[in-house]
Amino acid sequence: MVCAYRARASKWPAPLFVDPWAEAIAGADGEAIAARLDARFPPMETWLALRVAYLDRLVHSATDRLNVRQVVILGAGYDTRAARIPRAGVRFFEVDHPATQAAKRARLGELRAYPAHAATYVTCNFEREDPIDRLVASGFSATEPALVIWEGVVPYLTEAAVRATATRLAGGLDPRSLVAFDFVGKKLASGDNLTAADQHTRNYVGELGEPIRFGSDDILPLLASCGFRWVRSLDFNELALELLGDYQRERMFRFQHIALAAVRAPDFGY
Ligand SMILES: C[S@@+](CC[C@H](N)C(=O)[O-])C[C@H]1O[C@@H](n2cnc3c(N)ncnc32)[C@H](O)[C@@H]1O
Repeated sequence: MVCAYRARASKWPAPLFVDPWAEAIAGADGEAIAARLDARFPPMETWLALRVAYLDRLVHSATDRLNVRQVVILGAGYDTRAARIPRAGVRFFEVDHPATQAAKRARLGELRAYPAHAATYVTCNFEREDPIDRLVASGFSATEPALVIWEGVVPYLTEAAVRATATRLAGGLDPRSLVAFDFVGKKLASGDNLTAADQHTRNYVGELGEPIRFGSDDILPLLASCGFRWVRSLDFNELALELLGDYQRERMFRFQHIALAAVRAPDFGY
């Protein structure tokens, strides 16, 4: 589904990014899921495009301005950043559940031009294994800074799992590292007092097999208790204003946010 939206956003008249592989990866099944979601939450394409574009820019900032040489994609799914925005001397690590990663690698294997070696693939079942231990076993350095992109994952975890992973990242990464993740508001996660349209969206996501479990309206206290000492969060209206140049109330970006977290303030403002 995400690939289907990336494929569509790549064809915008002024695209925020171009993903040459997304359409083939998504296939008819991906587009069919996206088409059903369109009817329930029309701003989905814009939301995902903004999310992808913003996190791409973060990769550029971290590698170009902070000299970060390791990018970790946690819960990578069908992420293509390693192939789309490679940087000289920068290693991309894709960490995912063994089943998802095997399915992805099989699909990539069908695409002749995809540079499969752009990423180092790290299998990890977050419920049983430690992501940093698994990364280090694959050549990651925990004494060098990293950018960790945790995209499209946090809403589907329990709060305990979010806390456990965030605590491990804060304590186990080099302190110059930056963690970026998207999250949704508390109301969407709890399902209480939602409009009928929002309830439909929430139900559909659950029907796809990944129910929304965690949400927060104020992520700073959680991140502070996990060990982070520098936190920024932004919402998607801010991103739309910056990247698309306008505010449209009907986009209904009430529940989506991105957080940046570090244990030490980065040398320049994000
Ligand atoms: C909704 S997908 C997001 C994929 C991608 N980051 C994106 O934004 O398109 C959630 C990802 O979390 C991973 N995941 C869920 N539970 C996991 C677990 N217990 N261990 C490892 N990965 C898990 C899935 O394999 C999947 O790749």
